Amino acid sequence: MASITGRTVLIVGASSGIGAEVARLLAAGGNRLVITARRAPELAAVAKEIRSGGGSCLDIAADALDPEAAARVVAAAVAEYGSVDIALLNAGQGPDMSMDQVGVPDVARIMALNYDVVVNYLVPLIQQMTTQPEGGLIAHTNSLAGLMGIPRQGPYSAAKAAVRTLLDAARVELAPRGIRFTSIHPGFVATERISDDGLPKPFQISQERAARHVVRALEKEPANAYFPWQTAALVRTLRTLPTPLAARVLRKLASR
Ligand SMILES: NC(=O)c1ccc[n+]([C@@H]2O[C@H](COP(=O)([O-])OP(=O)(O)OC[C@H]3O[C@@H](n4cnc5c(N)ncnc54)[C@H](OP(=O)(O)O)[C@@H]3O)[C@@H](O)[C@H]2O)c1
Repeated sequence: MASITGRTVLIVGASSGIGAEVARLLAAGGNRLVITARRAPELAAVAKEIRSGGGSCLDIAADALDPEAAARVVAAAVAEYGSVDIALLNAGQGPDMSMDQVGVPDVARIMALNYDVVVNYLVPLIQQMTTQPEGGLIAHTNSLAGLMGIPRQGPYSAAKAAVRTLLDAARVELAPRGIRFTSIHPGFVATERISDDGLPKPFQISQERAARHVVRALEKEPANAYFPWQTAALVRTLRTLPTPLAARVLRKLASR
């Protein structure tokens, strides 16, 4: 069982994949969950599973691209449970996208789907957490792909890098107010959404294992968490190589 207990935890993007799995793991221990995503039936199924196991869970279908809807979710969480102690901003997606085949709107859409969806929650959450005596933790499911420009994932890499930079600034600014920020960087995770995207996935891990890593990060609150270690080490090594050599390796990996 997670060492997080008796907390109100908001998970944005909890109808499937890593977010749903984290919700299941945190359902024990007297945590109060608020889960949100666009697909109401899938979200309700996760909430029902948690409630039938004795957990407390409020599910609110909402599109994180809509800032007013996001603010309403945060307000509803506070109205129901009095605070948001931990928020996991997990919504995002990164389809296979080669730069010679995309249109400008495609790139803008990936930015919205991975950056705007975070900002729309970040602002009301910070406003809420500054009123809470103990502040709060805001975590984001970033990606190891956000640490460097990954071929066929350029727009996604760029959007995730932008979120990390934003949280880096917020962490420094808001530490005195008790608001903490954790960027969580998974490698490839075998979720349903990416199962047929055609991308090679070295060192892929299960969504259950990924969720355990995420929960550990929520418990320990590092500024950045990276997993699995194999992919993290690969990315770290690639970043230290001379650019032409790193490009050769990346091109080879992307073409597998
Ligand atoms: N799978 C991987 O290999 C991998 C690797 C690194 C990082 N990540 C990151 O991990 C996070 C979770 O991804 P996943 O792999 O678990 O895929 P997933 O099953 O598609 O999970 C994404 C979640 O976000 C929700 N979501 C997406 N857009 C949303 C929006 N506009 N408003 C509200 N909810 C939205 C989805 O639900 P609805 O569709 O119902 O809205 C879903 O619950 C993403 O941020 C992804 O970038 C994944």
